Amino acid sequence: MSKLRDIWKTTSRPEEVADTAFLRALPKAELHLHIEGSLEPELMLKLAERNAVALPYNSVEEVREAYQFTNLQTFLDIYYQSAGVLLNEQDFYDLTWAYLLTCHEQGVVHTELFFDPQTHTERGIDIGVVFDGITRALSDAATQLGITSGLILCFLRHLSEQDAFECFEQAKPYLHHILGVGLDSSEVGHPPSKFERVFAQARDLGLKAVAHAGEEGPPSYIYEALDLLKVDRIDHGVRCLEDEALVERLVEEGIPLTVCPQSNVRLKVFEKMADHTILQMLDRGLMATVNADDPSFFGGYLLDNFQFMANDLAMTRAQAARLAENSIRSSFISGDLENNYLEKLKKVIA
Ligand code: HPA
Ligand code: ZN
Repeated sequence: MSKLRDIWKTTSRPEEVADTAFLRALPKAELHLHIEGSLEPELMLKLAERNAVALPYNSVEEVREAYQFTNLQTFLDIYYQSAGVLLNEQDFYDLTWAYLLTCHEQGVVHTELFFDPQTHTERGIDIGVVFDGITRALSDAATQLGITSGLILCFLRHLSEQDAFECFEQAKPYLHHILGVGLDSSEVGHPPSKFERVFAQARDLGLKAVAHAGEEGPPSYIYEALDLLKVDRIDHGVRCLEDEALVERLVEEGIPLTVCPQSNVRLKVFEKMADHTILQMLDRGLMATVNADDPSFFGGYLLDNFQFMANDLAMTRAQAARLAENSIRSSFISGDLENNYLEKLKKVIA
């Protein structure tokens, strides 16, 4: 489809800073979203009560006050604790449905979301309960909201290779529900090489592969994700800019990077949004996309991330359109569906 190449170059008034209406109207795909990270404090407290789970908070304000992070680990400690309120199929449905309603409001037309089964199975919850709740919401979103989606099963890298194999074994009856596997949790000290064999098994079964790399970890982790895990996309990847040869390779191979600007600010990868390098990444020709990561913890969903970039990085309409185009091209959709979204984008930016 050559006529659909580099659509962003046809953006009208390309140098103007993008406004909210334009950003909302852009058809966007979200490729880096942990569904457990979309658990809003209100729903967390409601589920805690419904399931009689004790939490160290008494109000929404207290929960929000606790969301002061100094790095990835300080976030993960609270993130795993909050997931403890998710017990039943309906809980996973409610969590996912709430996220999808926000997608609908924000012009997210397609989402490929992550979930962390080990966070739940290690609490004695059957993996089928997790799958059933999430996939029922995704299916309702397709029919009621017109949102298309896919699911990516993430292994927790702070756990062992053996744990990852056991998780994958439990997931086998449900593989038709997932697009691929991913790798998340505490990055430094847990290089991609630790999961080379389980990723090989997943790829042999026809699954896609993605991995968090180069968020807090060094560029060598990005090389490992590419060479050992043979990933289709790198999640985060912002530290690639420290290695010129790596940047050139990522550009040449067109490897998508699912960047999460507001997450990076809240986890102190960058001190403030004005310091974020995502627009430089675009200028270097990297296939960068914008994503929310864990929106309820970091204070913003996908459209909010675009808005922060317009405010603090003076992101133009052409840059925003390019990021939206990258998101659709970097997704695992293809054929008519991909072309429909690209045609829609072309109309919106004209
Ligand atoms: N990095 C690593 N693991 C995660 C993240 C993240 O940003 N969010 C949820 N799990
Ligand atoms: Zn993430």
